[in-house]
Amino acid sequence: MRLGSIFLFVALCSFTAYYIYEPIPEEIEERWKLMLINSFFRSLSHLADLSELLGLKDYMGVMYIITVVEKVVPLSDELVKVTEEKFDEVEVLLYQPKQQGADSELRGAVIYLHGGGWCLGSSRMSPYDLLARKIAAELNAVVLSVDYRLAPSHHFPVPYEDAYHVVKHFLQERVLAQYSVDPGRIAVSGDSSGGNLAAAVAQQLQREPGQRIKLKVQALIYPVLQALDLNTPSYQQNQDMPILPRTLMVRFWSEYFTSDKVLFRAMMANTHNNPESSNLLKFVNWSTFLPETYHRKYSYSAPAVVQGVRREATGMDGPSRSLTDPRASPLLVPDIALRSLPKAYIVTCEYDVLRDDGLMYVTRLRAAGVDVTHEHYDTGFHGAMMFTVSPTDFQIARHMTDNYIKWLKENL
Ligand SMILES: *[C@@H]1O[C@H](CO)[C@@H](O)[C@H](O)[C@H]1NC(C)=O
Repeated sequence: MRLGSIFLFVALCSFTAYYIYEPIPEEIEERWKLMLINSFFRSLSHLADLSELLGLKDYMGVMYIITVVEKVVPLSDELVKVTEEKFDEVEVLLYQPKQQGADSELRGAVIYLHGGGWCLGSSRMSPYDLLARKIAAELNAVVLSVDYRLAPSHHFPVPYEDAYHVVKHFLQERVLAQYSVDPGRIAVSGDSSGGNLAAAVAQQLQREPGQRIKLKVQALIYPVLQALDLNTPSYQQNQDMPILPRTLMVRFWSEYFTSDKVLFRAMMANTHNNPESSNLLKFVNWSTFLPETYHRKYSYSAPAVVQGVRREATGMDGPSRSLTDPRASPLLVPDIALRSLPKAYIVTCEYDVLRDDGLMYVTRLRAAGVDVTHEHYDTGFHGAMMFTVSPTDFQIARHMTDNYIKWLKENL
């Protein structure tokens, strides 16, 4: 019995030491909590690798557990009425505020796209459910939380198209009238891959001259914005950071396009660019678009351009064309296409592989004359804003949420 517990203790310690030991920057608040969460994520990721290797279940299928454990049944409460709807065949959760006397008054609306690398996540996860309720109640706004279909079952452009179809469906006079929404006060927003979808949809609407009802604002929380350079300084600096190490982000990117591992390996080596995408590298040139302070110890070298290798190896054209598609990489459009975009709120975190995607978009949008509020969190890490549910709650999540809501209140 005693020996048993000693053994268990030692096993637990070595397990913990192995998984937990990961240099997490001193600046990060509540480091221990992050280390513990990280050890859970890493264990799960190893389990997922093993499962895929053994042919049991694919990697993302196992990682999806993260989504499942946080799923809730979204119920109405005294402040917000929650219903499940289908907008143009896409599942959405609709949050309507129940404020007194609000019936005759038109309200704003926020179309929200959850994160999870296009492969994980759901609007039914408790952090997203909580956020939607908070936005609805505090802004007296209608919130549309979109459950777009996910990769790898549904590769690009399906997740994007689901998001786009919901927005198009919603931005019709008769639909807005049904929910008492003011057509001049609609936001699109999202975090991580949801920020990618939000930015992409905002751009697409601007490309359509026939689109009468427009988005007023876009709020992008540590968005993913480009697939061409996966070695920006933030990718290098944060390659082992918890929640979203570089390998996982590369995995998300490659799974968004294809399940063929050839693309994953090429992206890991940053040798996935071909002559077509090489013409677009100027739009993601961090040497030009990052403020000097972020250059620090990194020197720019353009990603390698490989002549047709990947296409021949994978025997398909799809992923190589998707790479250059601005609906996947919103940073790849010329300045002229940025000019008329809605006012933007962009969040970046210092300890995030995606930091530089966000920073480059801030620079490019501002240069194109778009009004951008940029909120940079020096002690932030990727995914931080969604850690709002105990016991995995962080102070910074509350802080970020408050700032986000405040901006929406002032600008929507
Ligand atoms: C990136 O920017 C640097 C400095 O502005 C420039 O020297 C380099 O040629 C650019 N490379 C590409 C691929 O745009």
